[in-house]
Amino acid sequence: MKSLLKTQDLVSYIGPYTILQGVDVEVGFGEAVVILGRNGAGKTTFLRTIMGLVQTRSGILELDGKNLVGMPPYEIQKLGIGYVPEHYGTFDLLTVEENLRLAMWKEDADSKARLNYVLDLFPDLKLAYKRNSKTLSGGQRQMLSIGRALVNKNKILLIDEPSKGLAPVIIERVALALNEIKKETTVLLVEQNFALACAVGERFYIINEGKTVENGSVKDLIKDKELQAKHLGI
Ligand SMILES: Nc1ncnc2c1ncn2[C@@H]1O[C@H](COP(=O)(O)OP(=O)(O)O)[C@@H](O)[C@H]1O
Ligand SMILES: [Mg+2]
Repeated sequence: MKSLLKTQDLVSYIGPYTILQGVDVEVGFGEAVVILGRNGAGKTTFLRTIMGLVQTRSGILELDGKNLVGMPPYEIQKLGIGYVPEHYGTFDLLTVEENLRLAMWKEDADSKARLNYVLDLFPDLKLAYKRNSKTLSGGQRQMLSIGRALVNKNKILLIDEPSKGLAPVIIERVALALNEIKKETTVLLVEQNFALACAVGERFYIINEGKTVENGSVKDLIKDKELQAKHLGI
């Protein structure tokens, strides 16, 4: 497996607080990897550290062999990392179309094709295309937030808890969409919803108190009730 994203002993901090205290994660080209862990474990901080929004103190952080440490977020994004933040990354005052077009690095034949891909993936967005995004439901906003990351040609998509606050039937639709997306793109998903994590992820890592403590195949995790109870409270 050729490694696309790699962290080793990654330590990061916010002001006086050291939040990540040793995260070792490797994501291969084409993989779908899920990050699990309890509330406050450091999952969001991990994605924010990758994006350069949280400062790295030490350790390795590489995309496709290129060192990301110290690079500003806009450059990291341009290397081909799509980031879907926790609690949606959409602009309420803009229409669906404006949200999607504003996210594009450029508008050419390629990005138009990707925009059509997003609208086919999420027909709700096609129907609401000219509507103000403030009028969208939570699920539709999550779709728009994912769509904003998909309009660019990314190497990897980082998605932070897309199920949060959504009804089970909507979570199922998000799962279907993520299963489509992972056919095209490498995915690193942070998710506390165990069913969604298992439906999408092939391999998993568990973060606990800022450190990666376990990893393996999702198939094995589904059978390992002890591990689930220990770190996930299932
Ligand atoms: N801006 C911040 N200032 C201080 N501590 C923070 C900040 N953001 C997050 N933390 C702390 O970092 C830890 C990890 O948070 P987070 O990455 O959001 O966890 P998760 O996404 O796994 O629920 C928590 O203890 C949280 O309180
Ligand atoms: Mg979080």
